[in-house]
Amino acid sequence: MSAPSFDFTGKTVFVAGGTSGINQGIAEAFGRAGASVAVFSRSQDKVDAAVARLEALGAPAFGAAGDVRQPEAVEAALKGCHETFGEIDVVVSGAAGNFLAPALDMSPNAFKTVIDIDLLGTFNVLRLSHAYLRKPGASLITISAPQSTAPTAMQAHACAAKAGIDMLTKVLALEWGEHGIRVNAIVPGPIGGTEGLDRLANSPEAMELMLSRTPLGRVGTLDDCANMAMMLAADLTSYVTGAIIPVDGGRTMTGGGSYGSKVPPRNA
Ligand code: COA
Ligand code: NAP
Repeated sequence: MSAPSFDFTGKTVFVAGGTSGINQGIAEAFGRAGASVAVFSRSQDKVDAAVARLEALGAPAFGAAGDVRQPEAVEAALKGCHETFGEIDVVVSGAAGNFLAPALDMSPNAFKTVIDIDLLGTFNVLRLSHAYLRKPGASLITISAPQSTAPTAMQAHACAAKAGIDMLTKVLALEWGEHGIRVNAIVPGPIGGTEGLDRLANSPEAMELMLSRTPLGRVGTLDDCANMAMMLAADLTSYVTGAIIPVDGGRTMTGGGSYGSKVPPRNA
């Protein structure tokens, strides 16, 4: 499929968690479409590699290493992006952590860790970005998951965190509409070749079950997600806010239950 012709020349895009998988695909798509792009994640090596890839695509790029759970680190990254490229037009908040575990095997800290990365991290990124946004005009995009509405075994933490992200997306859309800021969520379905899918559908049988519950019968691609992110950032969706938008081949419609995955050994 050829990429649609979006033009984000002169725009600045900040992607939290933009150094691998779906978020990196989004960062690079904006870079190819002319934007200046900032990426932020914990690993300095991953940040350096992502910046190098963006620059190789011809995109002005900025990187900062830090943890979305730490507001000071998020603030420093946003400030650095703003000083380098000016007002931020698009923020994508996609940093996340996940692992399969029955609730009875989750320590309070295990549960809290995913809540903190996904939900508190998204709050930090969006809340702290406000000072650096183009107002009016900015588009903020959160990254949810089918677990936000589909109760899923071994995913108590991710289900709770992503449900919270959906609601946070709507509340900020409500509060920041008057500032000319739109806030929407993308709900990726199973996206091929990603860490997230590898962790959740971790056997051929689990993948077969996942596909049998995906009406379009295939996994999604990084471009499927990036195309929706660019759509939500573009003026053609200027009346869309507070929307939770599946990019999932229909997976969200078929509900939760079990992935049929085995819990991997902790040292795997
Ligand atoms: N089952 C049960 N508990 C687990 C677990 C598992 N598979 N993996 C981690 N935990 C627990 C830890 O034991 C710890 O709890 P404790 O202090 O009570 O022992 C808690 O979770 C935090 O683990 P830690 O390794 O310190 O967290 P971290 O902040 O270094 O890493 C993770 C966060 C665990 C989510 C890690 O997998 C990660 O960094 N993931 C990012 C990549 C990813 O998940 N991608 C997919 C996105 S959808
Ligand atoms: P991924 O490759 O593991 O990407 C996660 C990104 O977040 C990495 O860049 C990681 O980099 C960063 N990150 C993790 N913890 C962080 C933290 N505490 N602070 C800052 N950055 C952090 O995962 P993915 O599978 O592409 O998933 C991306 C997003 O899509 C997630 O929000 C996920 O929930 C969602 N999603 C994925 C799927 C799927 O099929 N893959 C389906 C539905 C939803 P560092 O390691 O350097 O920190």
